[in-house]
This record gives sequence, C-alpha cells and structure tokens, in this order.
Amino acid sequence: MPRKDKQRKLPALRNKPKFKCGFRDSGAALADSLVGNAGEYSVFSLFSGCGGLDFGFKGGFSVLGKRYGRLPFHVLGAYDLLQDAVDCYRLNIDDCIASADLTKVKPCDLPAADMLMGGFPCQDFSSAGPKTGLDGKRGQLYQVLINYMKFHRPRVVIGENVIHLARMQDGACLRQIVADFESVGYHFDVWNLYAPDYGVPQNRRRLIFAGVRNDIDGFPVAPKPTNADRHVTISEALSDLEGITDETVPNQSPYFVATRATSGGGQGYKSADSKRQNADLRFGARSYQIGHVTVVAVLSSQVSETVIARYQGAGMLVLTGTPSPDPTASTFAFFKEVIGYNLDDFFRRSSPVVKSVIHDLIGKLLAPQ
Ligand SMILES: C[S@@+](CC[C@H](N)C(=O)[O-])C[C@H]1O[C@@H](n2cnc3c(N)ncnc32)[C@H](O)[C@@H]1O
Repeated sequence: MPRKDKQRKLPALRNKPKFKCGFRDSGAALADSLVGNAGEYSVFSLFSGCGGLDFGFKGGFSVLGKRYGRLPFHVLGAYDLLQDAVDCYRLNIDDCIASADLTKVKPCDLPAADMLMGGFPCQDFSSAGPKTGLDGKRGQLYQVLINYMKFHRPRVVIGENVIHLARMQDGACLRQIVADFESVGYHFDVWNLYAPDYGVPQNRRRLIFAGVRNDIDGFPVAPKPTNADRHVTISEALSDLEGITDETVPNQSPYFVATRATSGGGQGYKSADSKRQNADLRFGARSYQIGHVTVVAVLSSQVSETVIARYQGAGMLVLTGTPSPDPTASTFAFFKEVIGYNLDDFFRRSSPVVKSVIHDLIGKLLAPQ
C-alpha cells in the first residue's frame, strides 16, 4: 500500500540476529565467562527451563544498570524436556544443558553435585491449570528430585513452584511434598517470596523449597527483600528495547514493523492470518506498556468472532462496521463520539467515487477473459 503522503515507503530494517533467542554470544553479552573453578559449589539442575534459577545462582550479570557479582556455583549439568528452553539456556547461559524426559533418566547416569535445584513443573498446582495436584499428569514430577537426592545425597536442595500449591487441599498437597522430600534424610523450609520485593518485574509469589541434608549443621535463611519500597515495573525492565529499530533483538520486530507501517502506509487489518494477528497482538502489548490502548477499527461487520475474541483477550478494543450506537463496538459510533468526525457523512459524500471503484473492480473480475 503506498504512503498517503506519496513519499517513498521505508522498508523495515531487517538486520538478522546472529543467534535465535539469546545474548550470550552477542556484542552486548551480559553473562560473564562461567567456567568451573576450584572453591565453587557444584550444582545439578533439573527442569531447568531457560535457566532463570541457574542464572541467578551463577550471577555475573548486569540488569538495569545494577551489577550482580559472580557467585561461587558451577552448574555441572542441566536437563529440560523442551528443546526451545534448552536452546535458550545454551544461548544465554551455558552449553551444559541437554534435552531429556527426566522420567526416563536414571540418577546413576547423572553426576553427583553439592547442590540440586529444580523448579519442578507447576501445571497441576497452578491456579491457571486443571488443579489436579498430586494426582495430575505432572503432579508427581518432584519425585525426580527425590530420586536424585536418594542416589547422590546432595548437601543442599532448592526447589521452586507456584504459590497455589500451598493453598491446595488446605495445605495437604504442600505437606505431602515436604514430607516426601524429608523422608529421604533432609529437612526443608518453604519460603513464600513476593517477586517484586526482590526487584523482579513480575507480580507473582513463588514458593522456594530450601532443603539441607540432615547430617549438615546450619540452615539458610530466607533472603530479605531488596526492593520492598521500590518495585521495578515492566515498562522499566523493557525500557532498553525502546530504542531498537531493527531485528537485532529477536522477536521484537513485529513492534517495529507495525510502527513503521502506521507512520507510513497505514496498518491494515486484513484477515484471520495468524502471523498478522500475532504481530498486532505484540504491538498491542507494547502500546499497553507505554500507556496506550490499541484500537482496531474495521469497516466490515464480517470479522470473525474468533479474531475479535483474540484481540479483546489481549486488552485491545475491536470496532467493526456495525450500525450500533455503541462507540466501543462500532467504528462509525467511535469516530462520531470519540474522534468527533462523521464517517457516515464521509461515505455519503464519497459514495459516487466508492461506487465507481467497486463497479470497475467487479467489471474486471467478471470480464470473460
Ligand atoms: C517451572 S519450569 C522451570 C523453570 C526454571 N526453573 C527457570 O528458572 O527458568 C518447569 C520445566 O520443566 C520442564 N519439564 C516438564 N516435564 C519434564 C520432563 N518430563 N522432563 C524434563 N523436563 C520437563 C518444562 O519444559 C519446564 O521448562
């Protein structure tokens, strides 16, 4: 579509990143070189995901101008089922990860470590899931940690899960997991930590299971909040992406392509094309972060209900060509009441032009050749 101001349309920059979803090898590398040294505690990581826990244990990175020093933990190995998570971990953290279904891995095939950690799957405990608890398909996966503990006897164990686990069956679910962990010769504390109090831009609580082998003296204390009176917002956390205008940060390009299209030829709402929709949804989310609500205005009333529901579910306002007087439902009413422009009149005035364009088009489509 040509630009309305007749200027040459600028192509979106397409500087392809050298990597898929990480920063380890980029010029802006955040992670220090993390090679195991004497004097470090060895760690084995299960259900590692993209490595949030692991990265925190290693330290040696900067976030929002704050430096987090290198910590004396060396991850010997890590496992996750999901290949994308494994790729992400490799790119951002270390090559020590492999993809595997941990229900099929024998503890004797894994190395012994001083510390074991694992954010065991939460779907069956989450308030957003089927809430099947310990009877669910993945509700028993914490047993993978227990099998490792029985075989290798790590000194310290750190588990992580969602807060809803503690609320299930009046706490019986949590008591059962802790009893199972302790039955193999450990004592455990469960910390209920509020992520924003620790500078994490995420409005969630997390349960941290801290366990120490029974023959070892001492016990870790729950960390004191660092940011109780200064929560970091998502807008702050993502602020460093604002100035990026190309694809060197993967998965951000839909924002920029969409923004360019708006300032140039206009952002078209086309069809039920999922790529188009995903780009619009990301653009909507980005707008939301900077305090704007995205309004999708279309003139047709034949927009698929599924598409409308998807956009509305992402906090966007979808207006169609319905004759309704409701400015949150009809593009015509929205223009009249919110923008102060009478679109009906515009069409009435322009109808001979519109009619002639449609007439020509239909004529061409129906022409015998
Ligand atoms: C809550 S996430 C872990 C998040 C991680 N602790 C972090 O900080 O990023 C749970 C992980 O368990 C993995 N998972 C689920 N079932 C698994 C299985 N049978 N074998 C290995 N990994 C599995 C999932 O792919 C998911 O990445």
